[in-house]
Amino acid sequence: MEKKFARTLVTTALPYANGPVHIGHLAGVYIPADIYTRYLRLKEEDVIMIGGSDEHGVPITIKAKAEGVTPQDIVDRYHTIIKDSFEELGISFDVYSRTTSEIHKKTASDFFSKLYKKGEFIEKTSMQYYDEDANQFLADRYIVGTCPHCKNERAYGDQCEACGTSLNATDLIDPRSAITGNRPVLRETKHWYLPLDKWEPKLREWILEGHKEWKPNVYGQCKSWLDLGLQPRAVSRDLDWGVPVPVEGAEGKVLYVWFDAPIGYISNTKELLPDTWEDYWKKKDTRIINFIGKDNIVFHCIVFPAMLMADGDYQLPENVPANEFLNLEGDKISTSRNWAVWLHEYLKEFPGKQDVLRYVLTANAPETKDNDFTWRDFQARNNNELVAILGNFINRALVLTHKYYKGIVPALGELTDYDNATLAEFKDVKAALENNIETFRFREALKDAMNLARIGNKYLADTEPWKLAKTDMTRVDTIMYIALQISANLAIAFEPFLPFTTAKLRNILNIKSCEWEELGSINLLSTGATINAPELLFEKIEDSVIEEQIAKLNRTKEENLIKNYKPAPVADNIPFDDFMKLDVRVGRILECTKVPKADKLLQFKIDDGMGGRTIVSGIAKYYAPEDLIGKDVCFVANFAPRKLKGIESQGMILSAENPDGSLVVIGPQGEVKAGSQVK
Ligand code: MF3
Ligand code: ZN
Repeated sequence: MEKKFARTLVTTALPYANGPVHIGHLAGVYIPADIYTRYLRLKEEDVIMIGGSDEHGVPITIKAKAEGVTPQDIVDRYHTIIKDSFEELGISFDVYSRTTSEIHKKTASDFFSKLYKKGEFIEKTSMQYYDEDANQFLADRYIVGTCPHCKNERAYGDQCEACGTSLNATDLIDPRSAITGNRPVLRETKHWYLPLDKWEPKLREWILEGHKEWKPNVYGQCKSWLDLGLQPRAVSRDLDWGVPVPVEGAEGKVLYVWFDAPIGYISNTKELLPDTWEDYWKKKDTRIINFIGKDNIVFHCIVFPAMLMADGDYQLPENVPANEFLNLEGDKISTSRNWAVWLHEYLKEFPGKQDVLRYVLTANAPETKDNDFTWRDFQARNNNELVAILGNFINRALVLTHKYYKGIVPALGELTDYDNATLAEFKDVKAALENNIETFRFREALKDAMNLARIGNKYLADTEPWKLAKTDMTRVDTIMYIALQISANLAIAFEPFLPFTTAKLRNILNIKSCEWEELGSINLLSTGATINAPELLFEKIEDSVIEEQIAKLNRTKEENLIKNYKPAPVADNIPFDDFMKLDVRVGRILECTKVPKADKLLQFKIDDGMGGRTIVSGIAKYYAPEDLIGKDVCFVANFAPRKLKGIESQGMILSAENPDGSLVVIGPQGEVKAGSQVK
């Protein structure tokens, strides 16, 4: 492929430092960016990968208030967790910094000032809610009230989470301040707006004409934004957490978090390369690639480029390969609902298994549509692919080399047609990998690499050197030579994806260097060279480990149900006479058995003081029959009898329902005679 660019700047969306990083972040942004960067490094291209924490914005201030700490405390805590866990997963940032750094505050402030001086902003006053007791303007998230659409009483000033409608704070019925609970008043405030409409023609041309090759999900979103028509956007906020607006009279105002955060890419490049950072941002032969999730597309393809155009000195991104979302066991990942696999917890619970997570999240990456992570799939991919294909092939090659040659690479003899066919097949892998990685199709690229291991596996299975060893050692020499070369090739092909495994493998094979251009060569290991003792690269993951993770998620589900439990609304009033129609009695359970072929039903024989009756009740999931015998329960005695699974049920046992739907049988707290009426 002809090289058009002298250097590449890879950026990764800066994660908010108000929580740890989870598998959704990894699959969407950091693993693909890391694969891409490692690949370019292997090709010895000039590339840097920029990361950092996004430490401003309202949610961080809300979390700090809720915990009674400062926003700085919050971001210090999560920045450390995030940075350390990325490092442990092998995400190879050249710099991972933060937007509370001095260099960033200055860079963002200067960026604003330059645009301000050039007259790139519009100043506008508007009416916004102000809390007179807290003495501050309220960000949308700090205003709660009743949703005008669904009447949910806990809607926010920007959105009702019950019905999903996006709102303006002034739409809320009965607005209250989340800080004091008081009713806020409307006050006039001034803000600076970036006129996106001014840049619309240039953006249209740049994206819609100039970048038809962008991923369809990215191109499509840009097109619908542009077709709707762009409006000026406020780039400042009334808030005390952020980069102060560097304009006289702007006390109490900061840059909007989405104005300062992308400038973080520039600040962090400066921090990494104080003298040469401009090469990566301003030279025409630089290629800028922004890795992001789909919720960030408008900011990276429209707002930030408009900021860069307004400045005039910067290059625009060459590509913005945004991914869709990864779900977890069928549900949307959510930080607030704790519905996630957190990276720092994974690293603790699966020590040494970084590459397994990297593999699974790449194989299942949400590149073209939302995808689902399940623990069963995680186990299956580990056991059936990493262990059974890649691990198995390499292990066989290594073990046989030690068995037949004491670890010394044998000589290549005459090639058979079958050898040639195998070698021809594996020659294609390099071009396929390159094409897929360079077009951001990492799932396909991973398949290409895995295909090489499949070729190796098949080669050994078909040639069966363990059988030939008794009769034709010369032939075995050639077979093992080829198997070892394929192993060495795997150490290159998998390097961008599974860097821990390939490092181990290179160590075993005694290979010092690793160069992409050598991929496809059958002379990576020379005849006579020694290889070290085999070591297993992957191990099977047992059912119990997976079941533990599923149980952990189930506990989260239960906790959420309990946390969010709201009793059902009380039914309409009824007259006393209606209540009197209901004949509720106390009865003693004499017998209790499971109803055959009905996993929900228990059959009871009840002493009702009147000769006994049979009742069938749907509580089999919550009780073992023997635990109920002898207990007193309340039941509706005047229910019309009905048949359940062929058994006539003469009443209904009363139970209370828990948030998770489980049932608890209701009975008297003291001694009562069977048949007593409940009034
Ligand atoms: N913090 C944002 C998010 O998690 C991403 C910011 S990307 C940057 O959605 F460009 F602003 F840095
Ligand atoms: Zn609503």
